[in-house]
Amino acid sequence: MPGIVIVGAQWGDEGKGKATDLLGSRIDYVVKFNGGNNAGHTVVVGNEKYALHLLPSGILTPGVTPVIANGVVVDLEVLFHELEALTARGVDVSKLRVSANAHIITHYHRTIDKVTERFLGKRQIGTTGRGIGPAYADKINRVGIRVQDLFDENILRQKVEGALDVKNHMLVKIYNRRAIAVDEIVEDLLSYVERLRPMVTDTALELHEALEREEIVLFEGGQATMLDVDHGTYPFVTSSNATSGGASTGSGIAPNRIDRVIGIVKAYTTRVGAGPFPTELFDEFGDYLRATGFEFGTTTGRPRRVGWYDAPIARYAARINGVTDFVLTKLDVLDDLDTIPVCVAYEVDGVRVDEIPVSQSDFHHAKPIYEEFPGWKQDITGCRTFESLPKNAQDYVLALEAMSGSRISVIGVGPGRDEVVVRHNLLP
Ligand code: GDP
Ligand code: IMO
Ligand code: MG
Repeated sequence: MPGIVIVGAQWGDEGKGKATDLLGSRIDYVVKFNGGNNAGHTVVVGNEKYALHLLPSGILTPGVTPVIANGVVVDLEVLFHELEALTARGVDVSKLRVSANAHIITHYHRTIDKVTERFLGKRQIGTTGRGIGPAYADKINRVGIRVQDLFDENILRQKVEGALDVKNHMLVKIYNRRAIAVDEIVEDLLSYVERLRPMVTDTALELHEALEREEIVLFEGGQATMLDVDHGTYPFVTSSNATSGGASTGSGIAPNRIDRVIGIVKAYTTRVGAGPFPTELFDEFGDYLRATGFEFGTTTGRPRRVGWYDAPIARYAARINGVTDFVLTKLDVLDDLDTIPVCVAYEVDGVRVDEIPVSQSDFHHAKPIYEEFPGWKQDITGCRTFESLPKNAQDYVLALEAMSGSRISVIGVGPGRDEVVVRHNLLP
């Protein structure tokens, strides 16, 4: 007791970073278990704003031990860049642990990510271009490079040769790009070895021991349920398991050690990249949400697609992840609206469907069925108790709670660390 998982309930950028930060100083370990530097978490602490990509957001809390676990794909250039930038701002990063089994993102993964996206043309996924998909593809194909391979130069060279063999044929003959030299990759990777060595350990063992000592271990998911490679809107997904099950496989901590699953859900919906999005708005309400919620990607700066709250998606996320508590973020963004539509079900070919359709083709043309809620037309950023929220805001939250399959324990009313309303404590 207790292992706690934080997951995104929608298509990412729900405010997971802020939620991690909120749990703060009672956490002993914070573990990134999936994804890589495709994530972008903005955390606001007082007047300071931090944008984290590869490192878990919990690194900002003094005393916490941050862990990059086996399920993560690590771009070493980004890792050391982020560590240096945080150190320069006075954040203590000395406790960072990196799994010996985590896979490495290399130059050829980034290159392949970009050329394949270009090749896909209109069918492209809209990836972050960080090499995430190709690195996970190599892992599954058993030609990946793991962190531990860096400590044996012979093995490293053999593995890089193996990995580049087919890729160079592809790059040259299909994509019309230059071949990538084995030496170039090996030299680059070896340049990080001495800095990396002290951080590398059996993170699964260390986390297991921490749980045995009854310390609090927080698993911080990157991306989100609908971007999960198994449970999301495939193929418009990322290449890892962003759902709570991924916390186990991605860290080596068994499912029965996880006591609580916190789903982060926005009071409306956003998505970056391509793929189905039933409640997407193309009108002035969309512009309003994007501008008021400042919905521009933390990683790529792309404007996020925006839409109304989708209750079947929240219910789906509650089921797939076993959500025990929701954190509902960005309620303040809705402050100025007269009425707020919420998608309660879909219409597919004239038939009402209450849950996400089995067939993705159906989901692509599912039309949202909306219920309208009256707005509160009042600034709620100063509210700190549920009772002090305007009645219409309370009713909106209670309605979402009734539709979404789990209790809403915390409500975000602004980006700041203290801009929350706590209804139920997230930590036991
Ligand atoms: P993550 O990827 O899930 O960590 O989320 P991002 O950091 O990409 O996007 C969430 C954005 O919303 C960040 O800029 C946060 O500072 C901001 N944010 C989080 N919670 C709230 C909230 O309750 N209200 C407002 N206005 N902003 C919030
Ligand atoms: P956080 O952790 C939102 C999206 C990309 C693209 C798809 C695949 O900040 O919520 P990838 O580069 O992973 O192969 O891209 O997934 N995507 C995200 N969207 N938030 C994220 O992370 C994302 N990480 C990946 O836009 O559609
Ligand atoms: Mg983000």
